[in-house]
Formats: sequence, structure tokens, C-alpha cells
Amino acid sequence: MAKITAGIGCSHVPAIGAAFDQGLTQDAYWKPLFDGYEPAREWIKKHKPDVAILVYNDHGSALTLDLIPTLGIGVADEFQPADEGWGPRQVPVVKGHSALAWHITESLITNEFDMCVMNKLDVDHGLTVPLNIMCGKVDDWPFAVIPVPINVVMFPIPTGDRCWRMGEVIRRAVESFPEDLNVVIFGTGGMSHQIHGERSGMINRKFDTAFLDDLSKNPQRLRYIKHEEYTTFAGAEGIEMVMWMVMRAALGDNNVHEVYRHYHVPASNTAAGLIILENDDLKKPQKKSAKKAVKKAAGKKTPAAKKPAGKKAAAKKAAVKK
Ligand code: DHB
Ligand code: FE
Repeated sequence: MAKITAGIGCSHVPAIGAAFDQGLTQDAYWKPLFDGYEPAREWIKKHKPDVAILVYNDHGSALTLDLIPTLGIGVADEFQPADEGWGPRQVPVVKGHSALAWHITESLITNEFDMCVMNKLDVDHGLTVPLNIMCGKVDDWPFAVIPVPINVVMFPIPTGDRCWRMGEVIRRAVESFPEDLNVVIFGTGGMSHQIHGERSGMINRKFDTAFLDDLSKNPQRLRYIKHEEYTTFAGAEGIEMVMWMVMRAALGDNNVHEVYRHYHVPASNTAAGLIILENDDLKKPQKKSAKKAVKKAAGKKTPAAKKPAGKKAAAKKAAVKK
């Protein structure tokens, strides 16, 4: 059976891709950002996913205003890097997973999500930059990728709640795919940024931090953040964060733990965020029983526990409860 074992939330700033391509990652401006990506790369090397479902948005590169699919899915065997005005980036061709992509498509459509099925799709920085962030410079991407483009550039765009419900269907679809596959899901874009108009360059660290905290602590709050709240508090392009809701819902509710976070301001005009969430109940069933054992041990009335607790003992007890 295939399993979604982890979720990755990741910004997609095009200048990060340019810094990669031009070998600028150790320059003073970029070094603190890129240094923070190293632990994430170590994590994914060990995690060894077979497939990544990558929820992202195209920026008028492959999908112009001529045709605006709200929700899409790439079912092809491969996807070429898009020409964004300077020629295609020199990154590996993205290999798809057609069988799983069609399986997910069927589940989504039979569950009332009318997907735009894409047999040909060039992928822009929205997809290739998160891959570089997680994999570095490579000759071939180390896993297959199923692109899931969502329209967040032209109103009306889907709500966080709709993205959430789509993630729930994706989770069930993956779990009903018979092949043994280690699947991860990316939610990309954000965090706070606005790249035009009077508020160009605005960043909201408080909003972003609460968003990252609540991905594991209170994802239901994030699910219902309105478009107006995103644009007011996280900037016009901060609304890209609705795509993280697909990722979060695909992990299931309240059963994740955060394994890594990196937040850096600024990357071009954007607050660059990266978070890795592991799915507890699928990846590490032994962890649950280990947690149970700790709880049980803490609840046992040992002679020491009956004694009035001093400051140190009380702190210890509180630490176990967490
Ligand atoms: C920037 C950020 C984006 O998300 C994007 O799509 C384009 C530009 C920026 O910060 O420069
Ligand atoms: Fe963007």
C-alpha cells in the first residue's frame, strides 16, 4: 500500500532558483537562507521518498490567462522546465508517476473535485525551486513528482477549506493505491509577501510564525483563514499559502510532528519558510506505543510520586506530560 509519510511546506521565490543557478548560495545575502536548507536535505536523503505530490502554482508560465484551471493534476511521464522569460532553467526534467497520478485523479473526480487533467505541462519556479531547496543541485531528481497546480494568481481562487478537503481525498486515494510507495506531499508558495503596489515588500513575521506553529498545533484554524485575511495580513501573494492546506490535510488531522523548520527574511521580497512534518500514525506506529508507555509510567503511583513534589520533581512531571 502507498502511504503519505511526510509533508513539506516550502516557499518558491524565483530568486532562490537564480541564486542556485548562478552559484551565489554562499554570498553574504544568501548564505543564511541556504545554510538553513542543509538539515532538510539531510532529512530527505534519509527519508527516501519514491514519489512527491507537489502542490504549487504556475505564474503565467505554462498556464496563461487564456485558460485558468482552478485545480489541475499532471499525469504525464515527464514535465519539462518552463521558459519564464530567460529560457528554461537548467534543472533536470521532472519525471512523473502516471499510474498514481491517474489513480488520484479518478478519486478526486469521483469525490466531486473536477480536476483539469494535464497530459502536457511545463513546470515553472513554483515547482522547481522547492525541489532545488530540498534536493540541492542534482543530475536527476531523486524521486518521481506528481504536479498539482492550483490557481492562486487570478481571482476567484479556491478557499483554504476547499484545499483542505482536496487534501483529504488525496490522502485516501494514496492509501488505496496497491503498490508499496513512500509518498511525500509538498505545499508550496508563501510565506508573507507582496510584489507589487504600495505595500510591495511587506512581510509579517507574526502571521507567518503563528501559521507555522498551527500547522501541527491547530491546523483547523488555518483551514478557515479567509482570502481577505491572507491579503490583509500576509500580502497579496501571501495567499499562495492556501496551497499548504492540501499538504496539511493529506497528513490527517492532529497526528503529525514537526521535524524541521527554517524561516528567513528576506529572500527577494518574500519571507522564506520551510517546514517538515512527519505523519506519526503511518510512518512510526511504534512511536504511539512508546508515548503510551511514557504516559502509563507517569501515571503509576510509585512511593516517590506520593511524596509532596518539590520544585524539581514538579518540573520533571510537567516535562513528561508535554
Ligand atoms: C517573488 C516571490 C514569488 O512567490 C513569486 O512568485 C515571484 C517573486 C519575490 O519575492 O521576488
Ligand atoms: Fe509565487
